[in-house]
Amino acid sequence: MTVLLFMIALLVNTNQAVTYRPVVLMHGILATADDMYELGGWLNSSFPGIYVVSIEIGNGYDDSFLLPMNKQVELFCANILADKHLSEGFNMLGISQGSLIVRAAVERCSLPVYNLITMVGIHQGLFGDALFKLLPVRFWELISKYAYEDFVQNTISVAGFWRDPFQLEKYMNASHFLPDINNERKIRNETYRTNMLKLNGFVMVYSDKDEILTPPQSGWFLGYASESVVPETWNQSRQYTEDLIGMQTLREQGKLHMFTCHTRHEDTEHAPNKEFFFQNILPFFNNTL
Ligand SMILES: *[C@@H]1O[C@H](CO)[C@@H](O)[C@H](O)[C@H]1NC(C)=O
Ligand SMILES: *[C@@H]1O[C@H](CO)[C@@H](O)[C@H](O)[C@H]1NC(C)=O
Ligand SMILES: *[C@@H]1O[C@H](CO)[C@@H](O)[C@H](O)[C@H]1NC(C)=O
Ligand SMILES: *[C@@H]1O[C@H](CO)[C@@H](O)[C@H](O)[C@H]1NC(C)=O
Repeated sequence: MTVLLFMIALLVNTNQAVTYRPVVLMHGILATADDMYELGGWLNSSFPGIYVVSIEIGNGYDDSFLLPMNKQVELFCANILADKHLSEGFNMLGISQGSLIVRAAVERCSLPVYNLITMVGIHQGLFGDALFKLLPVRFWELISKYAYEDFVQNTISVAGFWRDPFQLEKYMNASHFLPDINNERKIRNETYRTNMLKLNGFVMVYSDKDEILTPPQSGWFLGYASESVVPETWNQSRQYTEDLIGMQTLREQGKLHMFTCHTRHEDTEHAPNKEFFFQNILPFFNNTL
């Protein structure tokens, strides 16, 4: 009898042991959910039976650019909350613009996320024309000159995280998205910080070969210092010194994991980055419900 119970217990345990936490993936700008399938395949070949979902917002390609960030985050959360597989908790990974969508979703929608992984992230915004080569010419001036006008904020995703170091006051006053989710304004939203501190781990990756993001260190939450195009240091960044959304605390608790990869921005989710991914990122998905 005891032996039988023991064997049943063993079976039950074995079953539980293979219920990997589901995974949510969010692609970047001017891309679609399909662009994440290669990376999704790395996960489901490494962790048999794992549930992996790559999220699409609106029609994907165009809407990734032509919907403002607040709207994208809202649609993203609705998508996640409607998926029964995800109600017990999950790990989540966002790439580039997707890094902002997944982080904002944790902060605003209190999603039950265990590890939050961001690759070539834009946490402290971007400024500069390297990105423009991805975008139709007719949008270049709208962003570089008129990013903080309401009609641009209401139309183009990039405007929501355009952080001009020569107009930081205007950015703070008029940007609809980044100063809010980064808790940079006078009145902070404590829920954002509380939700970030619920994470088991927050992973940030930037690439020292990034051809699109300026500064690439935005992936580590470091933007340009005021009135310059020199990236801030940890000491200068209010995110760390003032713990606006909990970065300082996460670091002290050993929950912040920072990596540098060496691939082009556009190769982040593809084969050129596979070795880096397997070595450094895969372990954050090796956990069970
Ligand atoms: C693995 O993931 C890929 C891409 O997300 C998907 O196309 C494929 O069907 C998945 N395979 C299994 C066995 O789930
Ligand atoms: C803080 O954010 C939460 C989630 O988005 C929202 O429900 C709440 O109204 C916000 N609080 C303030 C003071 O803005
Ligand atoms: C920002 O807002 C403050 C307070 O409303 C205002 O005094 C200031 O002129 C604004 N600055 C810019 C550059 O828009
Ligand atoms: C600033 O950075 C330097 C060098 O990394 C370090 O020694 C110092 O403790 C930092 N200061 C603060 C206030 O974090």
